Amino acid sequence: MRTQVGIVGAGPAGLLLSHLLHGEGIESVVLENRSRADIEATIRAGVLEQGTVDLLKAIGVGERMVREGSVHHGIELRFAGRAHRIDLSELTGGKAITVYAQHEVIKDLVAARLAAGGKIVFEAADVSVHDFDRTTPTIRFRHAGASEELACDFVAGCDGFHGVCRPALASSVRTEYTRVYPFGWFGILTQAPPSSHELIYTHHARGFALVSTRSPDIQRLYFQCDPHDDVANWPDERIWAEFRARLATHDGWAPHEGPIIQKNIIAMRSFVCEPMQHGRLFLAGDAAHIVPPTGAKGLNLAVADVRVLARALVAFFGEDRHDLLDRYSETALSRVWRAEHFSWWMTSMLHQFPGNDPFQERLQLAELGYVTTSRPKAITLAENYVGLPFE
Ligand code: FAD
Ligand code: DHB
Repeated sequence: MRTQVGIVGAGPAGLLLSHLLHGEGIESVVLENRSRADIEATIRAGVLEQGTVDLLKAIGVGERMVREGSVHHGIELRFAGRAHRIDLSELTGGKAITVYAQHEVIKDLVAARLAAGGKIVFEAADVSVHDFDRTTPTIRFRHAGASEELACDFVAGCDGFHGVCRPALASSVRTEYTRVYPFGWFGILTQAPPSSHELIYTHHARGFALVSTRSPDIQRLYFQCDPHDDVANWPDERIWAEFRARLATHDGWAPHEGPIIQKNIIAMRSFVCEPMQHGRLFLAGDAAHIVPPTGAKGLNLAVADVRVLARALVAFFGEDRHDLLDRYSETALSRVWRAEHFSWWMTSMLHQFPGNDPFQERLQLAELGYVTTSRPKAITLAENYVGLPFE
């Protein structure tokens, strides 16, 4: 088998890259180790930046997102029992975010790729990348019991944090920067109408809590937990008691409760691999970097990376230009580090850290007070949250 760009991973990064390249007449093959049903059912992020939404619309995969997603013009910061609205649209000249689940984006992208005759190999096992320091890289894998080899001009490593592409780069050519947080998020999906029209990010002495939505009858909520905890320790009533305690306001606000249909715990880390390229192997999305979810940046950064990578590949194949490919890592990393800072800042302001003393608590409240009263500071939050413009 031969193609121009071999893509490992059918997450948002891999599928979108494949679709962007297709729009420019560049062939690709996507190799994914899970099944289509599995990737289309994995519950993850929900917040799309304005730029992500605009891009999905522009390339013809935004129709269901426009119909079923919900546009939010503000978010709420809640602390000391009071609600404070950040008017995202007013502070950013009309931009907004759209709440639309990541697995719905995945379904839309898979459908678009297959409708256009794109090749996605699901359940590709034992994927490995070779010879990317030459001009003839290959990807080996097993499919339906047979060994296969995909020859390509470039390899895009879009295989997430636990993938095989980043480790394929010798440790002598990469530097990794990591921060692991001493807490995780307990996420639930519940059958109940939205408790709020907008997302609520809450700082509370018992720990952070977040109210998000999915549809008119499903809500997505999270609370800060021990990353080593077990969902089995959390019967529904204990979960609701925790949400009621953390989300309480002086005027008696309470979340809408319903049957809990999904529970999971995610660990939180910040991570960057530099550079994001070596020879003809280019990393994109979670394969190269991880952010804690507080800023809702993970999926959006994956989109931003492949936008840069697609443009560089188009310049290479269309005009024989190497400069954009040579600068891919540098270009992508400037946005990555800004998002790393924003995600770390939101996380630090809103969570309880083990050993937090009253001094630390006062610092967090001072920061929250400043963000909710100073227009320049609120603009800083808003412009990062809706997504900084592309260069
Ligand atoms: P992924 O979505 O991880 O896609 C990588 C793909 O590669 C996967 O389909 C995987 O199966 C495949 N793959 C892996 N290894 C191989 C291999 N060896 N061979 C072939 N294929 C392989 N972000 C937020 O902003 N908010 C959230 O609430 C949030 N929740 C999250 C919850 C979880 C459990 C996780 C893991 C992440 C969450 N994120 C969240 C982050 C966000 O979902 C990611 O940033 C986003 O999925 C990155 O997209 P990606 O395409 O780079 O990687
Ligand atoms: C959601 C996830 C996030 O990480 C976030 O910051 C806001 C919302 C969500 O899943 O809806």
